Parts: sequence; structure tokens; C-alpha cells
Amino acid sequence: MKLVGLVGWRGMVGSVLMQRMQEEGDFSHIEPVFFSTSNTGGKAPAMAKNETTLKDANDIEALKKCEIIITCQGGDYTSEIFPKLRAAGWNGYWIDAASTLRMKEDAIIVLDPVNLNVIKDGLTRGVKNYVGGNCTVSCMMMGLGGLFQHDMIEWMTSMTYQAASGGGAQHMRELLTQFGSINAEVKALLDDPKSAILEIDRKVLSKQQNMLPEEVKQFGVPLGGNLIPWIDKDLGNGQSKEEWKAGAETNKILGRGPGFNNAEGGAKAVIPIDGLCIRIGAMRCHSQALTIKLKKDVPLDEINDIIASNNQWVKVVPNEREASMRDLTPAAVTGSLTIPVGRLRKLEMGGDYLSAFTVGDQLLWGAAEPLRRMLRIVLD
Ligand code: HSE
Repeated sequence: MKLVGLVGWRGMVGSVLMQRMQEEGDFSHIEPVFFSTSNTGGKAPAMAKNETTLKDANDIEALKKCEIIITCQGGDYTSEIFPKLRAAGWNGYWIDAASTLRMKEDAIIVLDPVNLNVIKDGLTRGVKNYVGGNCTVSCMMMGLGGLFQHDMIEWMTSMTYQAASGGGAQHMRELLTQFGSINAEVKALLDDPKSAILEIDRKVLSKQQNMLPEEVKQFGVPLGGNLIPWIDKDLGNGQSKEEWKAGAETNKILGRGPGFNNAEGGAKAVIPIDGLCIRIGAMRCHSQALTIKLKKDVPLDEINDIIASNNQWVKVVPNEREASMRDLTPAAVTGSLTIPVGRLRKLEMGGDYLSAFTVGDQLLWGAAEPLRRMLRIVLD
């Protein structure tokens, strides 16, 4: 059995990964070695077999023994350790959740239900670095995979509604703490049915505008009862890094654009994808509203079939009020691998303009799931 090093398995994404690996029986196919950045020598979790103590995640020699390393430890760890490992001659498979290596030429972004051909081609070519995509991109592509597969998209905008978990565990806690302190501020007035709503509103606003620095330590501004129309770095051209990723990563996942020579000869044209990325007060599901310019006017029932039949996780939600409210929300999707796609309709602009709305658990398809599936592909 292959020796598989696991790093960052205790964090939020890592914990979801461990849970999924257990559910899918992945540990019966590997000899796991658990690494730690803070508890070397401690007891490895129950899934350990022969290696029952935690190894030092900064020990290049210990890491080198692994044929495959999966890390959810984050970008700083990858930046620090990955070059050292390769410089030390390690030639194993590196499977990573962080964005550090994603756009490198010798790395492939993994989302096998959508790009198994690109992954297989990479394995044949001897590529050893496989990186999970940005969560929003992966969830969107799981939903719209059929449209990409049939090369139906001329361009697309994605307007996102991203959950607190995208920032990390502390961000989720901060959001909930803010909800609590806002509620506490107006609890007495809420309990009194005769109190004036504008008085409640004024107090909520005052609380939001006067939060202490420690109450907004993660997001910088209140997110509870608010939204934040910027995610990740400012690229200096009016675009946020999260917005840039939509186009850059989607095309790389599909193997489109310069640098990709397909079997048909030459690179396939890049599909322009751009939009605005917005943080909202959801817990761990990213949602997005999409405007899709189709290459041609395809009937809606055909579009529904193409989307629904792309993979076993996508589910088309009828574009009806009740179904949309019930099935197309973060609360409905959290904890599930199902990717609902709904609000599918032709827009007033013409028959080749399609709207869609999709929701995905950003810790599952957005982070952990593509990694464990990549492990299984390497093992096969
Ligand atoms: N960058 C994403 C977010 C999460 O902040 O929501 C990770 O892909």
C-alpha cells in the first residue's frame, strides 16, 4: 500500500477531508502517515495503521518517504515546504488545497467530474502536482459542467454570494458572534410586540457601526446583517483576486487557452468569465447568480437535460417559486455533495442569454472532495 502523508488534517477543510475519506473507505487503500506542525510525537488519529505517532510536518526527510502527500495546511506551508521537498529530489504526488501552485505550468487543477481528461493527460505526461480549485469556481463548474462539456458558452458573468467559511473557521465564529451581539442589542425591544421597528433598526445600525476592533477582527467590517462587496486581494485594475480566479481557473480546469495543445491540434479559445464576488452572512455554502451568453439559442428543455445529465451530483431545480425557495439555498445544501442549479430561464435580452443560480458546499466540492478523489485516481 502506498505511504500517504496527510498534512493539515485537523483544520476545517482537513477535518471535512478526513470525514469524507472515512465515509468512502479511502483509508483501506493507503498506509496513512499523519503529520503535524505543532504536535510532533503526539498520537495519530484512529485511522492510522502502522505509523501511530504524528510526524513533524516540517521534516523534509520524513515527508520524502511518502509517495503521495495531501495537504490542507494552507498556502504558507506549501510556499515553505513544497520547493524544499522538490529540491531534495522528492518525486511523489503532491495534492494540495491551497492556491499557491494552482496556476503553475506544472500543476493541474483537479475537478475530475469535469476535467478527468485533463487530469489523465497530466498523469500520462508525468505531472506530479495536483491542486484543488477555488471553491466558487469548483462549485460553479460542478453545476454547469454540461454547458462546458458541450462547448455552449460564449461568455459568462458570475455574481457570487460567498459564505463566511471561505475566510476560515474564525470568520464563521465572528459572523455568529456578530449576529448574537446585534440580537442582544435589541432583544428587549424585539420581545415587546408594540415596540417601533425603526427604533430597532436604529439600534442595530448603531451596533454595526460601532463594533469594536476585536468584533470585526477577521472581516474588518461587520458581516452580520451586512455584506462585503470585495473578496481577497485588490489586483489594482478594479478586479479582486477572487474575481480573476473565475476566468483564469475555469479555463485552466478545462485545459483551454494558451499553453494547452489539445488532441485536435492547437489551443481552444479562452471563455471570458468575469463578475463580482460578494461575501454574505451564510455559513459554508457559496451561491452564485450566472448570466450566460450561449453560442446559440438552444431550447430550455435541452439545456435542462444537458446540465442534469453531466454528473451524478448536479440537480436541476425547476424554475418555480416553491422549489427555488426550498432547494436552492445554503441551508438546503450544507453538508451535501448535491449541487442544485435553478432559476434557469432565457433572459429578455434574447434566446441565447440564459440565467442560472447555483449553490455548493464550499468545504465539500469547494475544497475537500476533489482532493480525496484525486488520491483515488492516483491510486487506481
Ligand atoms: N477564496 C474563497 C473565499 C475560499 O474567500 O470564499 C477559498 O477558495
